[in-house]
Amino acid sequence: MAGFAGAHLASAVTSAKGIGFIGSAYDISALQTELRNVSDILHNTLTTTENDTQTLPIGVGFLTFIVKSSDAIPLVKKYKPAAVWLFAAKELEDYTEWAEGIRSASPETKIWIQIGSVAGALKVMKLCRPDVLIMQGTDAGGHGWQRGAGIISLVPETRDALAAHGFCHVPLLAAGGIADGRGVAAALALGADGVVMGTRFLGAPETMLPHEGYLKTILEAEDGGQSTVRATIFDELKGPNIWPELFDGRGIITESYKDHVKGVGVEELRRLYKEAASSEEGGFGPNGRTIVWAGTGVGLVRQQKNAWEIVEEVRTEATVALKRACGRQCI
Ligand SMILES: Cc1cc2nc3c(=O)[nH]c(=O)nc-3n(C[C@H](O)[C@H](O)[C@H](O)COP(=O)(O)O)c2cc1C
Repeated sequence: MAGFAGAHLASAVTSAKGIGFIGSAYDISALQTELRNVSDILHNTLTTTENDTQTLPIGVGFLTFIVKSSDAIPLVKKYKPAAVWLFAAKELEDYTEWAEGIRSASPETKIWIQIGSVAGALKVMKLCRPDVLIMQGTDAGGHGWQRGAGIISLVPETRDALAAHGFCHVPLLAAGGIADGRGVAAALALGADGVVMGTRFLGAPETMLPHEGYLKTILEAEDGGQSTVRATIFDELKGPNIWPELFDGRGIITESYKDHVKGVGVEELRRLYKEAASSEEGGFGPNGRTIVWAGTGVGLVRQQKNAWEIVEEVRTEATVALKRACGRQCI
């Protein structure tokens, strides 16, 4: 979650025995600062046995259509994160160069690639054998494939296709719409080895939010399939859309989106957006225009909670949900 997930969120999730990630976009020097901070925090909080590997026990995310591998890889070499997360390549072939660069800079670092289709998962496996594949379904908050499926079909179909091509070993994680332990239990039942949560952590104080209105919008949103939408117009509001054609993003339905549907032109939408964003409310609120990236799970984010508490609560809930499901099956 570029701009949202920094040292505090990543270290809190890792300390709760998840794996926290720092997101990045253009600003490599901001990433360097977050890496320095996370390294300090974790050295002070983790015991020697918890931190006995050669790697920094967090991951770092790169949007590969934005950042050059030659700018990113020196940081991987220096900080040796446990994982590097790659997303949004212009062409899937681009991951090959990234994977080679990361493996030679930091052989212990695992390569995670987020992907949104069965065919894409197979292709990426053949191209560069990532250590982990994240199957991102259409419920996910933020950017993803315009054409996609929910994890309920995406995960098992990918699992079958990978097995049929001899890739039984690769861990699959499910992403998109998972906001509590019931979602985790469902993902495990679908054949996932673990899950990714983004939207749920927008309700954690460790997450960097641009304005208090962002948190309020997240906590007040209900019925995520109605209150959020996938659209490309969100990426046009600050200027021309820079994302590769395949992608759109899921966010809260705002006045900007509603006006776009009514046929208001992009120049006017940009003007109104700029005006709203520079107001004291930051363009948030009931008639807000500012982009609030969030997935369909937003209706399950009801109160602010510390990130470690979220991880622990979700883990406990998942165990209960799985036991309950087994109990039902046995009856
Ligand atoms: C606010 C926000 C920002 C995001 N930014 C990124 C990003 O920079 N890079 C990326 O790979 N995914 C990004 N994502 C998508 C996540 O990787 C993940 O697929 C998603 O959060 C999972 O679905 P969920 O939001 O329903 O939990 C973002 C998601 C959100 C909610």
